[in-house]
Amino acid sequence: MPDLSIDFAGIRSPNPFWLASAPPTNSGDQIMRAFDAGWGGAVWKTLGTPIINVSSRLGSVDLGDRRMMGLNNIELITDRPLDVNLREIAEVKKKYPHHAVIVSLMFDTPEEWADILKRCEDTGCDGVELNFGCPHGMCERGMGSAVGQEPKVLTELVKWVMDSTTLPVIAKLTPNVSEIVDPALAAQAGGAHAVSLINTIKSVVGVDLDRLVPVPRVNDASSHGGYCGPAVKPIALRMVAELFRQPDFSLPISGIGGISSWRDAAEFIALGAGSVQVCTAVMHHGYRIVEDMIEGLDEYLVSKNMSSVQELVGAANAGFREWGELDLNYHVVAKIDEAKCIGCNLCHVACWDGAHQCIHMPGTAAIEGHVAPMAATAKKRAFEAASLIASGRTDVEPYRVPWVDETECVGCNLCWLVCPVSGCIEMVEQRRAPETDTWNDRVREGRDFVPGGLKDI
Ligand SMILES: Cc1cc2nc3c(=O)[nH]c(=O)nc-3n(C[C@H](O)[C@H](O)[C@H](O)COP(=O)(O)O)c2cc1C
Ligand code: SF4
Ligand code: SF4
Repeated sequence: MPDLSIDFAGIRSPNPFWLASAPPTNSGDQIMRAFDAGWGGAVWKTLGTPIINVSSRLGSVDLGDRRMMGLNNIELITDRPLDVNLREIAEVKKKYPHHAVIVSLMFDTPEEWADILKRCEDTGCDGVELNFGCPHGMCERGMGSAVGQEPKVLTELVKWVMDSTTLPVIAKLTPNVSEIVDPALAAQAGGAHAVSLINTIKSVVGVDLDRLVPVPRVNDASSHGGYCGPAVKPIALRMVAELFRQPDFSLPISGIGGISSWRDAAEFIALGAGSVQVCTAVMHHGYRIVEDMIEGLDEYLVSKNMSSVQELVGAANAGFREWGELDLNYHVVAKIDEAKCIGCNLCHVACWDGAHQCIHMPGTAAIEGHVAPMAATAKKRAFEAASLIASGRTDVEPYRVPWVDETECVGCNLCWLVCPVSGCIEMVEQRRAPETDTWNDRVREGRDFVPGGLKDI
């Protein structure tokens, strides 16, 4: 059985699944229930100087029947009294000594930081996470993403923290920057032990068109908020991968953003995350989702012959390259499985209007000189089926399977993505040449950039 336990920057946890700092980690009672459900760690809802929250505070993007594909919030940090939170943190840690209890913090002056860090140490917590990511409310007060967006300030603030504590320190970064590497290097320069990312993406989630007010509505107005949930996963994954590949950056990374399943978690880990944090999926489905995450990751590691989570960390890194290093001779074409096709025509429409006009309906003529046999076969089948139907046969369906002109297919994947039947379209490898050839090879060797040469463009 693989070892799911982790040691993340000195913070030990029975598994890599942590709750992110947010409503699911508001109180000790919640976190204890989460640990009982199987979560390995929890980052307490951010502590700071007392704030007041608004009502309402959440808005979402739904996609068809799927609710909360993306979640937007205008909630601030904890609105519970500091003393109560600190007492509960100590209680949780005492009762769950082997789970990771991390306290998220957002304070202003060096004195405030020194004071809260001392009080955190007294709780017995395993580490602190510095919230440099909140993109609404707190940044207008010079905290949260206002720090995360200013590398010099970020380094300075991490230094204040490092001077005041011996606890492991994680700097939580904002994605609302043009280059994620800059704040990450700034955190490293300040002495942080690790980084976590992403916090939420600055956003307006929608507009109530009857009232002409953005949502979530607070009486007669709204404000920008922070976006998270499944929709942000690709953005978070890219940032984690970019940091892991950065040669000057060597801190452990806690991956956050749209993680809902063991697969999402495994993807983050494979691209470099040493632990993962979850918020929206728990707000949507509850703490119990961790059971499937643990089981799924365990089985996946077994299937890969990996004995620990650590073996997976960054394992997909070698497969992540700059565009210029991709193999230009690799080529795939779409193949339709006639037996599975339901003749819905979606691939044809997508390829004609959104790709390269090379999926044809049966009966349509081939482009002059191109794959005439395939066009002829499709046409023949369509004709045969139509004749049988015309002769009174009721057991014959019209022949509606489209055909692909492989000589024109660029292998973009669009038809494969839109086809509603699983396994009906397959992208099949048809290399242009056996050897590897990249854009960077061509530039290095001074060869023509495009087949046929630049002069032919
Ligand atoms: C309602 C809400 C409140 C949040 N509050 C905090 C917070 O207090 N501190 C913090 O660092 N992140 C906070 N976050 C951000 C999450 O910790 C997390 O970084 C983000 O939601 C992305 O993860 P997800 O896609 O799994 O939700 C909050 C998120 C939500 C939805
Ligand atoms: S892969 Fe792209 S170009 Fe090829 S048939 Fe499908 S949609 Fe058309
Ligand atoms: S989208 Fe799939 S099922 Fe629909 S016509 Fe194309 S291949 Fe057939």
